[in-house]
Amino acid sequence: MGFSLNTYPITYRANFSDGKWSSEYLEKPHKTPEEEAAMSDSDLAKLQDSRNCYDDMPLVSYSSQYGLSCFEGLKALPQKDGGLAIFRPDKNASRFYRSMEGLCMPPFPEQYFLEACIETVKRNARLGFYPHYNSDWKKDSFMTADSVYIRPFTMSEGGVGVNLSSKPWVYVINTPVSSYFSSDNSDALVSDRVRATPNGTGWIKAASNYVISALAKSEALNAGYMECVFLDAVHHKYIEEGSSCNIFFYLKSGELVTPELGDTILPGITRASIIELAHDKDIKTSERQISIDEVMEEAKECFVSGTAAGATPITSLTYHGKKAVFNNGDVGEFSADIRDTIKGIQYGTLPDTKGWMTKVI
Ligand code: COI
Repeated sequence: MGFSLNTYPITYRANFSDGKWSSEYLEKPHKTPEEEAAMSDSDLAKLQDSRNCYDDMPLVSYSSQYGLSCFEGLKALPQKDGGLAIFRPDKNASRFYRSMEGLCMPPFPEQYFLEACIETVKRNARLGFYPHYNSDWKKDSFMTADSVYIRPFTMSEGGVGVNLSSKPWVYVINTPVSSYFSSDNSDALVSDRVRATPNGTGWIKAASNYVISALAKSEALNAGYMECVFLDAVHHKYIEEGSSCNIFFYLKSGELVTPELGDTILPGITRASIIELAHDKDIKTSERQISIDEVMEEAKECFVSGTAAGATPITSLTYHGKKAVFNNGDVGEFSADIRDTIKGIQYGTLPDTKGWMTKVI
């Protein structure tokens, strides 16, 4: 299924005005999930479209004209023992706060963010809109598992001049999601495009960053790859990120390397979790610059990480026509172990010893 724009009925929105946030939950048009499942495709599409329309929002705004917006992505995951739990929502809350500050917007209090994420999932679940745990998911390492994708994002007030937003809205929508990447292709292509520049917005989860990602990713897909990988803007030499995820290399020496954080790298929550899990597994883990030449020579395994990506193995990387194949083109043992550990904690098949999961229902 991947991402689908089938937003669940309950949406949260808050607006900053007169120095304070006011908020509301909106119930968009819907039937029961069973009634919706029985509808014709065209009727269902109309209903789903109507849930994505808000007549009282400005069309011309700093968000629609100049991409001035930031967002988050979290998942509420069906638990083996029943119910739903969200993975590390406090980390998304603080990153959203920093993103808004980075875009010079009044930042959204972390407690409001947490409440909105938890409450939208709860209210949608009460209406029957949530996926149920399926024991078959474990068979393919949760590749095809469903979850609720929680997407908080900002929208600016109306405006046409190039400007900053002082009265933003924050929305939180829920939509069903399953595996983000296809499972039949794990090849990646190094892009000549530049995702982020020093002193720019690469460290912010800014909507505008994803324009370059979409262009580079579509070029990679058109050339037969699953994913694209960006190099740094200054030297065109050091690895930065995948299209919309962080990236890791497991080297022949046994060292796990991911590019160090800076103003061009998104501080991923899955990234931080993988670093912690690798430490626990006594793997030498480094956050440092890693050049494309080092990767082509020394990498044994590679995977990309993110909320949507989880930890998705990359089995080859092509750079200017030269292809490095990792682990003979098979998913490596380390990548599979990290992927399964993260998924196990998220879906409740492994113990949550770190208190990463927030139970919602
Ligand atoms: C996520 O992993 O949730 C992200 O935000 C990336 C998304 C743009 C696919």
